Amino acid sequence: MVVSMVSILLSVGLAWYVGYIANQIFNRDPKRPPVVFHWFPFIGSAVTYGIDPYVFFRQCRAKYGDVFTFVLMGRKITAYLGVKGNDFLFNGKLADLSAEEAYSHLTTPVFGKDVVYDVPNHVLMEHKKFIKSGLGFDQFRAYVPLIVNEMHDFLAKAPTWGPGKSGVADLLATMPVMTIYTASRTLQGEEVRAGFNAGFADLYHDLDQGFTPINFIFPWLPLPRNKRRDRAHNIMAETYLNIIKKRRAAHENPGTDMIWTLMGSRYRDGRPLKDHEIANMMIALLMAGQHTSAATIMWILSLLGSKPEVIEMLYEEQKRVFGKELRPLDFDSYKDLHLVNYVIREALRLHPPIHSIMRKVKRNLAVPGTKIVIPAGHHLLAAPGVTATDEEFFAHAKDFDPERWNSRVNEDEGDVERVDYGYGLVTKGAASPFLPFGAGRHRCIGEQFATMHLCTLVSTFVREYKWTTVGGVPKVDYSSMVALPLGPVKIAWERRE
Ligand code: HEM
Repeated sequence: MVVSMVSILLSVGLAWYVGYIANQIFNRDPKRPPVVFHWFPFIGSAVTYGIDPYVFFRQCRAKYGDVFTFVLMGRKITAYLGVKGNDFLFNGKLADLSAEEAYSHLTTPVFGKDVVYDVPNHVLMEHKKFIKSGLGFDQFRAYVPLIVNEMHDFLAKAPTWGPGKSGVADLLATMPVMTIYTASRTLQGEEVRAGFNAGFADLYHDLDQGFTPINFIFPWLPLPRNKRRDRAHNIMAETYLNIIKKRRAAHENPGTDMIWTLMGSRYRDGRPLKDHEIANMMIALLMAGQHTSAATIMWILSLLGSKPEVIEMLYEEQKRVFGKELRPLDFDSYKDLHLVNYVIREALRLHPPIHSIMRKVKRNLAVPGTKIVIPAGHHLLAAPGVTATDEEFFAHAKDFDPERWNSRVNEDEGDVERVDYGYGLVTKGAASPFLPFGAGRHRCIGEQFATMHLCTLVSTFVREYKWTTVGGVPKVDYSSMVALPLGPVKIAWERRE
């Protein structure tokens, strides 16, 4: 009896499976995006996408064209590659595409309630406006020397750096810490930076563990680390709430850091921000800038170490702009550091930290110029990193060649259409092949801060060290939410005379 039940179930399962495979091969509906062939239902293309999304995208593009659907752990993801795909996603209408529905299950437990994707889009736009007002040139002028001081303190004591004349540094072990110290000292204020000397780093680590692909795919799994994530969020939020309370009670003159900026911000109807909104926004900012900037400085140092002649050109540029004696860095001179800016762009072109940008499709969407309709319920995916490394737009696209930017008009600047989604004018030009900071209503507001931060880090390294990359430029590790270099990431450094 039991045996016959099992064989019936097996036969039904097998018939279903054969139908599933046959459906993929023979039942192609021209009005739907082609589905990437996969042997395993539910899992779909998770393994190939997860190992190297760009290899996966390019192979699928060659086989299916710019628009295709793949299955990722039960979700239907429709990728739209190329500049048209970038534009389609970044400039999509609010009624058609939702970032909140794509990301909120991942971000809300980490950032907390009532901020970012836990609020309606118009509230996020107002929040972005408040944050942007705290990221001005006056702040940046003050931040540059703070970053330099933090770097000196950190590098003097950091393992694999230290006060010696030469050494081999482990970037993966040191750069994320240095990034968080420098970013927190500036953007987050003195109290938060002090917190990193006193246990904040462990909390940050626990919170960060909530930001993994597994949380994106299975947000409901009762993992022990999700408990640690929630505990870390509560303690960190409490820390910010105490800072806000103390500042209020002290009746000090408001300063210019981000907490002060948010404490002084008012919604359009005159309401101030609630304390927990400020606390959660600060956590969101800490997380948004950390991995992206840490990954980028590691890529920059590795790429430069593979072409030490560019390090010497950067050193010459420092002397040209700051004089032979190398007077201290100042933000107002950064506009003249052309090569540093090209280096940052080139690293972001080759290794944009965010490889997949997602939105949930809210109603059926016709793809212009084709018969294809992307069904509601799918996730739409754009990958600007594909166009950024495409020979069609960048000759010798795989080469690290910062000087290519010298002769290139920046598609993001100049006489292009601009639009205001509520947080200031941004370029509409999402059809650009180079969009490491995104575009449209969800465009990054941290770009200027990140550029100032990276410019200061690179300039300081160049002034003080020469280095070469040990073992070649690393491969990419796609196992976390951002594209990090695959360890070990080592450089052999030598202190300049
Ligand atoms: C190299 C550094 C960085 C890179 C490459 C980067 C990249 C991006 C990208 C691609 C987006 C768009 C995401 C989407 O459309 O789904 C974005 C949004 C955003 N980023 Fe950054 N980012 C960087 C640094 C920062 C920093 C330092 C901050 C904070 C100071 C920050 C805060 C934000 C915020 C608030 C958003 C808006 C999210 C939204 O509206 O949905 N980012 N970033």
